[in-house]
Amino acid sequence: MPSQQTKSLDVRTALKQGIHLLREARVPSDTLAAELLLLHVTHRDRTWLYAHPEELLDPQILESYFALLRRRAAGEPTQHLTGKQEFWGLEFEVTPDVLIPRPETEHLIEVALDRLAVRELRAGRDPKLTGEGLTIVDIGTGSGCIAIALAKELPAAKIFATDISPTALAVAQRNATRLGFTNRITFLESNLLAALSPSFHQSPITNHQSLLFDLIISNPPYIGRKETSNLPIEVRDHEPASALYGGEEGYELYGLLIPQSARHLKPGGLLVLELGHDSLPAVRPLLETPQWTNLHVTNDLAGIPRVLSAERTAS
Ligand SMILES: C[S@@+](CC[C@H](N)C(=O)[O-])C[C@H]1O[C@@H](n2cnc3c(N)ncnc32)[C@H](O)[C@@H]1O
Repeated sequence: MPSQQTKSLDVRTALKQGIHLLREARVPSDTLAAELLLLHVTHRDRTWLYAHPEELLDPQILESYFALLRRRAAGEPTQHLTGKQEFWGLEFEVTPDVLIPRPETEHLIEVALDRLAVRELRAGRDPKLTGEGLTIVDIGTGSGCIAIALAKELPAAKIFATDISPTALAVAQRNATRLGFTNRITFLESNLLAALSPSFHQSPITNHQSLLFDLIISNPPYIGRKETSNLPIEVRDHEPASALYGGEEGYELYGLLIPQSARHLKPGGLLVLELGHDSLPAVRPLLETPQWTNLHVTNDLAGIPRVLSAERTAS
């Protein structure tokens, strides 16, 4: 950017130039990205932005804004530049150590809450849930978005969250603390459910009965390594490989997670899994066994089968 642009610009002009710069670089959602970066450097909200189009911006603010725009144009995700992403009405810290929470993952929470409510109805109880008596685990918690959203909705539930990445767990723990859920969630470094197995010597749980869950929920890595070259640069070069790739094909981790979940669910317990855009044909057969019943597929807003959920049979 020529230095004259950082001399003195009003809000409207800065926004227009930002959108233009991002559009030239073929950045998706260019207007939103320019707005978010301008809001970030000015520490203002969107109402202020559109109510003060003629306000002149400080040269230092403009300098920071154009520096961020150039990084966005080079492929860094907006959320890495602002350090945050909203999910389930809550603001999450995100860093390059965690997957940026995606809107489609909110369907996972909706399906889990709906199915837990239906279980209550079937048992002749009030479907309005507090989470009383429920033990839940989120596998591959990343930023902690799923575990924390469930902690918000189910104030009396006991919640565990695992991740294989210690740096992701540090972000999840910070999010839980900042959002006021630190005492509600036990975070564990674990390969899938390994740290929750009775044989695991450092298991925080000693009573075998409490190793069984009412709900196991997960958005596992599900992209195939073979798809790497088709991924947008924002994802491929900036989000952690351990959060993206499930194996060469992408669906490999489900083959480990589903049998482990069968061993860790109470009879009638629920498994709720997010799916990749083409995972369903490979994953559904893993749940079409006598161990599972009431299999449901839920589509996302784009009509893609996004959530697979099932109930552990009583036997
Ligand atoms: C797709 S991200 C999901 C993050 C977060 N739950 C969300 O929905 O935004 C998958 C997460 O699983 C973690 N992960 C990958 N392999 C794992 C494994 N074998 N056991 C536990 N966590 C794993 C990654 O570190 C990453 O945080």
